[in-house]
Amino acid sequence: GDYTGPLRPQIHFSPPQNFMNDPNGMFLDANGTWHLYYQYNPTGIVGGNQHWGHATSTDFYHWVNQPIALFPPEETVYVFSGSAVVDVNNTSGFFPDQDNGVVAIFTLAHGYYGPQTQNIAYSHDGGYTFEYYDGNPVIASNSSQFRDPKVIRYDDYCVAVIAYSQEFVVGIYNSPDLKNWTLASNFARHGLLGAQYECPNLVKMPVRDSNGSMVDSKYVLAISIQPGAPLGGSITEYFPGDFNGTHFTPLGSATRLTDFAKDNYAAQFFHGIPDAQNATVPTGILEGWRSVTTLPRDNYLKNATRIGLVMANELCDLSPVLDASLNQSTIGNGSVTVDYSTVDSGALYIDANVTGINTTLVTPDSTLNLSFTSPASGETLQSGFFFGGDNPFFINRGLIRGFDNVFFTDKFSTANIYSDGSGSLASWRMQAVIDRSILEVFVNGGDQAGTVLFYPTQPLSLLHLATRDLPTGAKVSVSVLALKSAWA
Ligand code: FRU
Repeated sequence: GDYTGPLRPQIHFSPPQNFMNDPNGMFLDANGTWHLYYQYNPTGIVGGNQHWGHATSTDFYHWVNQPIALFPPEETVYVFSGSAVVDVNNTSGFFPDQDNGVVAIFTLAHGYYGPQTQNIAYSHDGGYTFEYYDGNPVIASNSSQFRDPKVIRYDDYCVAVIAYSQEFVVGIYNSPDLKNWTLASNFARHGLLGAQYECPNLVKMPVRDSNGSMVDSKYVLAISIQPGAPLGGSITEYFPGDFNGTHFTPLGSATRLTDFAKDNYAAQFFHGIPDAQNATVPTGILEGWRSVTTLPRDNYLKNATRIGLVMANELCDLSPVLDASLNQSTIGNGSVTVDYSTVDSGALYIDANVTGINTTLVTPDSTLNLSFTSPASGETLQSGFFFGGDNPFFINRGLIRGFDNVFFTDKFSTANIYSDGSGSLASWRMQAVIDRSILEVFVNGGDQAGTVLFYPTQPLSLLHLATRDLPTGAKVSVSVLALKSAWA
């Protein structure tokens, strides 16, 4: 793959060339290698002819592209999304002499309108090559809308969640050996339905208190809906709840979204950790590749006053790609400008901590604005806080001109669910990673996360951070670091 294009993210994973959609089969092996598989069309820049692409990393940022891991068994059959487990105890019987056997479970779509069935393949070499099981399918079906099995272990058996997409049902299946599956229960018509359910995930997640200590654990059921998200397009919603091995019971009737912006879909949780949109975006035409994974995130639950359990998305350790510090400053009402045109990767990490806000003095104009500009074209990506509002954090990609499409909405904002209802907090934090054509922001350490893609006609290279009408006594500590390319 050629990773030099001006829109190519440098610390994110994107496919060597052609089209990627969902992450699949993600697991951590016993040697500390992270395996990422992904929906891949090796012959085109739009979805179709689906395979499982494969990449590995030991630090989440430096990825090595591996040969395609799963090929369609025959023409006009497509390998759709799914998951993988390491079968340490050889419950499947495929691995009499090893403890690093990998079983992938995935949907085979017989044409785009034919039946979707669940199938398995096993790997004797730790996940690099797979053989199809000769007893496939392991779950037969006549439905053309039955897909995306995600497997976890529970006690001494396995549990799979699988979407009956257009019936808005997640089937919960049990298996002792990954070959024989029985339907244990259905989770039907919860939350936002959109036009269909896809890529369900069930995972056990720690509940952490405000000091970050684990105080409990709960299950989270995540479902991706597409299309029909509130902002248009697709989105991942989730339900915190209890799981007893056969039934998932949500804690309440509410559903929540994993991202306040728009470009984060079909999230998958890694297996083996101890206790994406269909328009012709410019990367395809200009650079011959499409889609990017988010940065790895640490997910956990925490309690929000009035609201209950909410899933946090914390940015993982960036140290493998951190480079020189470009600016460290503390300001009150003022501004910081950083010209990063000499940073080869074009990628930055920004951390802004706002403290000491006297909330009674906050006005509607009390803001922190962060912008990334191209001096050559004048295009600007904007984001920032309104400290007084109920929608405190926003992103605006409407002033970037490299891609124009009615479905490519441009303004996003968070809801302030962590306040006591007054809409103000005395301190705020914003962490942001900008990487050529993707921005990820994490508000208050991951209470809220936003992911947006943007396609400038010229590289953005000037960072400007400015505060306005900050109450006396409030200050902003800013730190800006260059990120080094993981692909150079
Ligand atoms: C979600 C999805 C899945 C399916 C895959 C096919 O984006 O539609 O439901 O398995 O993509 O590529």
